[in-house]
Amino acid sequence: MKKLLFWLTLVLLLIAAFIWGNMPKIAPYYKQLTKPRVGMNIDLQPKEQRSAHFVGSQKCKECHKAKYHDWKASMHSKMIQDIRKNSSVVVADFSKLPKDADFTLKDAVYTIGSKFKQRYMIPAKINGKDDYRLGNYQWNTQTGKWQHFKPYKYWYHNSYPHDNKQFPTSTTCDGCHFTGYMATGKRVEPAIACENCHGPGSEHVKDPDSPVFKASMFDPIRTNEVCLQCHMRNRDKRIETQGATAKDLWMNATDYPKGYEPGKPLISYKLPAPFALGQGTKEFWPNGAAKKNRTQGNEYIHDAMYKHGITCINCHDPHKLTNTAQKPQGNDACMKCHSFGSVIGPHQDTLEQHTHHKADSKGSLCIECHMPKTGRHTGKSPLTVRSHRFAFTYPAETKAFGMPPETNACFACHKDKTLDSLQDDLKAWGQLEWEKLETPHVK
Ligand code: HEC
Ligand code: HEC
Ligand code: HEC
Ligand code: HEC
Ligand code: HEC
Ligand code: HEC
Ligand code: HEC
Ligand code: HEC
Repeated sequence: MKKLLFWLTLVLLLIAAFIWGNMPKIAPYYKQLTKPRVGMNIDLQPKEQRSAHFVGSQKCKECHKAKYHDWKASMHSKMIQDIRKNSSVVVADFSKLPKDADFTLKDAVYTIGSKFKQRYMIPAKINGKDDYRLGNYQWNTQTGKWQHFKPYKYWYHNSYPHDNKQFPTSTTCDGCHFTGYMATGKRVEPAIACENCHGPGSEHVKDPDSPVFKASMFDPIRTNEVCLQCHMRNRDKRIETQGATAKDLWMNATDYPKGYEPGKPLISYKLPAPFALGQGTKEFWPNGAAKKNRTQGNEYIHDAMYKHGITCINCHDPHKLTNTAQKPQGNDACMKCHSFGSVIGPHQDTLEQHTHHKADSKGSLCIECHMPKTGRHTGKSPLTVRSHRFAFTYPAETKAFGMPPETNACFACHKDKTLDSLQDDLKAWGQLEWEKLETPHVK
C-alpha cells in the first residue's frame, strides 16, 4: 500500500511537472491580461490623495530605501541637474561654444538631459514673470558637437516669439522634467521623482496606511498612463476642447498635460500628436514609426501588445528603467513571455526557423527586426531611436510608404541590397502571407 502511494505520488508529480514545463510562458500574465477594463474616463486616484500635496523624494527615502536607490541610479533622477551644486553635471565642452551663443556657462542654472543631448536653463523674466529660457546652442552628446537650438521652431511655431530670450520653459518643458510642476505649477524637485508616478504623498508620509496611487493596481491599459503623461508627443488640450488655434494660445500654449496627477484619466488632460496611417507628419513616418525621440507612447498605443494589456512596466522596471539602448538585454527581454511554437508566437519551432539567420547572428536578435532604429534625437543626430511599434515592417512597405530605406530592419544590416531584393528573400523564406504578397497595404 505504502509503495503504491509512493508511485502514485511520483507519477502525479511528474504529470504536474510536465504540465508546468509546457505551460505557455505567457501564463503568469493571464491575470493581468484578463483584468476588467475600467474605461478611459474613470478617476482612479485614491480619495485620500485628492487633498494631499507634493513633498519630494527625500521624504519617501526614509521608508523606501531600496526603491529610492534604484530610482536615484536611473536617468529619471538626472534629467534636471543644478550646475551650482555640482559643476560636473555639464557634459558639454564650453571652450568650444560658438561665438554667437547668447549665453555662457555662468548664466546657466540647470542642465536638461545628458545622454543624447544637453540643453541649458537660464533665469529670465518673460511676460512679466520669473521664468527660464533656453540657450541658443545645445550639446549633441552623440556627435560631440555644439549645434543651434531654436525651440520655437519645434514647439508651437505660432504661439511664441521667434526669439529664445522670449521662449519660456514653464509652459513648454517643465511639466515633464520637474516633480509637481505639471499638477501645481510649482517646481517641487528638479527630477522625475516618486510623486510624478505615485501622485502627491503628504498624507501617506504622515500615515503609511493612507494610500498613494500604484499604476499596476487596475486596468493594464490605464497602467501605461503614468508613463504616457511624458513619453507621448502631444498638443495643448484646448485645441480640442475649445477649438483654439496656436495663435489663440499666444505665450501660453502648453506642451504637457497640465493639471494631470497619476490616477486621473489622462485622456481629459492630453491630446496626442495627430497621426493617420499613410500620412507622414513632423513626428511620424507614414507607417506610424517615430521620427523623433519621446514618441514611445504614440507608437505603442497602435501595437497589438498594448491592445492585449501588455504595459511599459512589463518590459521596463519603473524604478531602474532597465532595457535601454545602452544596455541591450538580448532576446531574454522578449522571451520571458514569447516562446517558439507558442500561442502568442513566434509560430515556428526554433529561433532559426523564425529569423532565417544563424542563432548566434545579430540577425537573430528580436529587437533588430521588431524595434528598428527609425528616429533621431535631433536633426543632426544619428538614427538611434528604436521604434516601439513592434509589428514587423516589410521592405515593400517601407518602399510603398516612401520611407528612407535605412529605417527598414533588413536594409539597416544589408545596405548592399535593395528593398526589392530583401522582400524577395522573405518571399523565398515563405515569410509572406497572401496580403503582403499581393500589394503592400498602404492606406
Ligand atoms: C513613514 C514611512 C513611509 C514613508 C515616509 C513613505 N512610505 Fe510608502 N509605504 C510605507 C508602508 C509601511 C507601506 C506599506 C503600506 C501598506 O501596505 O498598507 C508603503 C507603501 C507604499 C506604496 C505601495 C502602495 C500599494 O498600494 O501597494 C507606494 C507606491 C509608496 N508607499 C510610495 C511612497 C512614496 C511615493 C512616498 C513619498 C512621497 C512614500 N511612500 C513615503 C511607508 C512609508
Ligand atoms: C516612472 C514612474 C515611477 C517612479 C519615478 C517611481 N515609481 Fe514606484 N512604482 C511605479 C510603478 C508603475 C509601480 C508598480 C510596479 C509593479 O506593480 O510592478 C511602482 C511601485 C512602487 C512601490 C510598491 C512596490 C510593490 O512591490 O508593490 C513602492 C513602495 C514604490 N513604487 C515607491 C517608489 C518610491 C519611493 C519612488 C521614488 C524614490 C518611486 N516609487 C518612483 C512607478 C514609479
Ligand atoms: C514626468 C515625466 C516622466 C514620466 C512620468 C516618466 N518618464 Fe521616463 N523619462 C522621462 C525623461 C525626461 C527621460 C530622460 C531622462 C534623461 O535622459 O535624463 C526619461 C527616460 C526614460 C527611459 C530611458 C532611461 C535611460 O537610461 O536612458 C526609460 C526606459 C523610461 N524613461 C521609461 C519610463 C517608464 C516605463 C515610465 C512609466 C512607468 C516613465 N518613464 C515615466 C520622463 C518621464
Ligand atoms: C510631454 C513631456 C515633455 C515635454 C513637454 C518636454 N520633454 Fe524633454 N523629454 C521628455 C521625455 C519623456 C524624454 C526622454 C524620452 C526620449 O527621449 O525618448 C525627454 C528627453 C529630453 C532631452 C534628452 C535627455 C538626454 O539625456 O539626452 C532633452 C535635452 C529634453 N528632453 C529637453 C526638453 C526641452 C528643452 C523641452 C521644452 C522646450 C522639453 N524637453 C519638453 C518629455 C518631455
Ligand atoms: C515589449 C517590451 C517593451 C515595451 C512594452 C516597452 N518597451 Fe521601451 N524599450 C524596450 C527595449 C527592448 C528597449 C531598448 C532597446 C535597446 O536595447 O536598444 C526600449 C527602450 C526604451 C527607451 C529608451 C529609448 C532610447 O532612445 O534610449 C524608452 C524611453 C522607453 N523604452 C520607454 C517605453 C515606454 C514609455 C513604454 C510604454 C509606452 C515602453 N517603453 C514599452 C522594450 C519595451
Ligand atoms: C509581458 C509579456 C510580453 C513581453 C515581455 C513581450 N511580449 Fe510580445 N506579445 C505579448 C502578447 C500577449 C502579444 C499578443 C499576442 C497575440 O495577439 O496573439 C504579443 C505580441 C507580439 C507581436 C505580434 C503582434 C504585434 O505587436 O505586431 C510581436 C511582433 C511581439 N509581441 C514582439 C515582441 C518583442 C520583440 C518583445 C521584446 C522586446 C516582446 N514581444 C515582449 C506579450 C509579451
Ligand atoms: C530577421 C528578422 C526577425 C527577427 C530577428 C525576429 N523576427 Fe519575429 N517576425 C519577423 C517576421 C518577418 C514576422 C512575420 C510578420 C507578419 O506576419 O506580419 C515576424 C513575426 C513575429 C511574431 C508574430 C507571430 C508570428 O509568429 O508570426 C512574433 C510574436 C515575433 N515575430 C516575435 C519575435 C521574437 C520574440 C523574436 C526574438 C526571439 C523575433 N520575433 C525575432 C522577423 C523577425
Ligand atoms: C542586425 C543585423 C541583421 C538584420 C536586422 C537582418 N540581417 Fe540578414 N544577415 C545578417 C548577418 C550578420 C548575416 C550573415 C549570416 C548570418 O549571420 O546568419 C545575414 C545573412 C542574411 C542572408 C543570407 C546571406 C546573404 O547575404 O544573402 C539573407 C538572405 C538575409 N540576411 C536577409 C535578411 C532579411 C530579409 C532581413 C529582414 C527580415 C534581414 N536579413 C535582417 C544581419 C542581419
